Amino acid sequence: MTGSPLSYGPDDPRAATLVTLDGPAGVGKSTTARAVADALGYRYLDSGSLYRAVTLALLRAHVPNDRVDDLDAEALRGLGVAVRPGAETLELLLDGAVIPDAELRTPEVTALVSHVARLPAVRDWLFDAQQAAASQGRLVADGRDMGTVVFPQARTKVFLVADPRERARRRLRDHGVAEPTEAELAGETERLMARDAQDEARAVAPLRRAEDARELDTTHLSFAEQVAQVVAWARGEAAGEASGIREGAPEGSEGDGSV
Ligand code: DC
Repeated sequence: MTGSPLSYGPDDPRAATLVTLDGPAGVGKSTTARAVADALGYRYLDSGSLYRAVTLALLRAHVPNDRVDDLDAEALRGLGVAVRPGAETLELLLDGAVIPDAELRTPEVTALVSHVARLPAVRDWLFDAQQAAASQGRLVADGRDMGTVVFPQARTKVFLVADPRERARRRLRDHGVAEPTEAELAGETERLMARDAQDEARAVAPLRRAEDARELDTTHLSFAEQVAQVVAWARGEAAGEASGIREGAPEGSEGDGSV
């Protein structure tokens, strides 16, 4: 992954107000990130929606699937996708009009987006938009490569994990299946694990925990508990910065954990 140089490093005070959440499918990154941003009064960046916006633009422009891999920066610029910082989130525009969230989540977009997200030209092109969103700090960003590639300078990095069966249970519940059968649960667990394997194996920006990320296992946590834990870590970083004391490397990272 190339991309422009980082606008500021981990010692900059703004890095103390950058929070990244990465993790596998179905672990609850977006809902957690949104609630954390709300609690902290920071802006929220849903990086997956950027990949979805590019995918929607390709579909609207009727670019044939077999031509998608040939797109370069100029062709991507020509698609008319723009990112505009709003008060709480980033607005995504296509040809000057805000894209409704529902249009980013249609089955057509969902079917093509993981292919589009693998293209280095697309990732490079979106890198700058994501970095620009963090130019003032005070951002919570969720995705697959937030802590590793896009915001390596962030001081609060969280890698969310949960038991695959529990993730499958939550996903089925979100789709209205409150009491799944064993076969439904097993099938959904298998699909999630296959997606995890794909995301971890891909050549460009694979899903992996940043060395300095804190791992949060949410298998036995309530939603409120997982939000509270991330908020506490983020407040600790921001308060440490304000008092001139930097927090030490998080437990389980390569550092010695000293404060
Ligand atoms: O989180 P989501 O389902 O909206 O993500 C859409 C797609 O984009 C999915 O295939 C994963 C990919 N993605 C990515 O490669 N890197 C990110 N930072 C965020 C999402």
